[in-house]
Amino acid sequence: MKTIEFKDGRVVLIDQTLLPLELKYIECDSAECIAEAVENLRIRGAPAIGVAAAFGLALTALQNSRESRERILSELEKSSERLKKTRPTAVNLFWALDRVMEKARNSNNVVEAVVKESLRIYREDIDTNEKIGEYGAALIEDGDVILTHCNAGALATAGFGTALGVIRAAQQKGRKIKVFADETRPLLQGARLTAFELVQEGIPVTVITDSTAAFVMKNYGVTKIIVGADRIAANGDAANKIGTYGVAVLAKEHKIPFYVAAPLSTIDLGISSGEKIPIEFRNKKEIEFFNEKRTAASGAEILNPAFDVTPHKYITGIITEKGVLGAPFEKSIKRAFKS
Ligand code: MRU
Repeated sequence: MKTIEFKDGRVVLIDQTLLPLELKYIECDSAECIAEAVENLRIRGAPAIGVAAAFGLALTALQNSRESRERILSELEKSSERLKKTRPTAVNLFWALDRVMEKARNSNNVVEAVVKESLRIYREDIDTNEKIGEYGAALIEDGDVILTHCNAGALATAGFGTALGVIRAAQQKGRKIKVFADETRPLLQGARLTAFELVQEGIPVTVITDSTAAFVMKNYGVTKIIVGADRIAANGDAANKIGTYGVAVLAKEHKIPFYVAAPLSTIDLGISSGEKIPIEFRNKKEIEFFNEKRTAASGAEILNPAFDVTPHKYITGIITEKGVLGAPFEKSIKRAFKS
């Protein structure tokens, strides 16, 4: 199963809105098609959004390959602006687009440079996740009971996953582990996607409602929490799917280590603290209706933030491709970027 792939001049990706009922691939031949897929969460998860956006630029470059260098660059700028408007929180989106655009601007063969750089971002992401898995697996002990929130798996990346990459790597090393997956309201990435991936891997997984997290921490021997991130500030504050902050506070009360697994491309050194991380607010219909059936009384106001920020004081460690970073995060993050 490949989350996303660049194949014969097209981008092939799993439509994640249909999982777990249907494993259907869609093909995009334009940046607009990628933008629509990102906006509607057909592809989601910070690293996967970054890869998809980079591929979106590759499609624009290929579509305009017969045009002048200036024209190709101007079309790329337009596509980049459009893709940047899709989702505000995951910094990987902006990181990937800026990285590809810089290569484009500094190259005489723009099309080749853009395609190559997008493929490099794709391959690097898989490699990075495997390293995160290696470092993270060293923290996992036989018998661990791990709780995760949302989906930070192969489906959220180019492959292997970050938080689920750690779990996957630990299982491959023979550790016997059990996972609790928060269902992750309102779009159920935990129940639909995390459980789907773990069942496929043969890793025991129990889906719980988000509000059951405290109950299982108290009564079901949860030993570790591992989640992904969409953007981490320079001081270690980490934005992730709405509900993560609550899980972190509960973890502290129950003295359970709380880890964030993320590549350095998710760390935004330009943002000093979590307060400055832009939070996406999504359509109120996601909460007002369930399977097209109204579940919230009409007339009630709806608040639907897609992410929240966990202050760094709740985070035991950030598992990256450069190792596990600990407090004080400002220093360990800087060191990781230099190494
Ligand atoms: O709204 P989503 O599904 O894109 O949110 C995804 C998450 O919150 C993930 O935990 C995060 O992007 C890390 S993915 C490795």
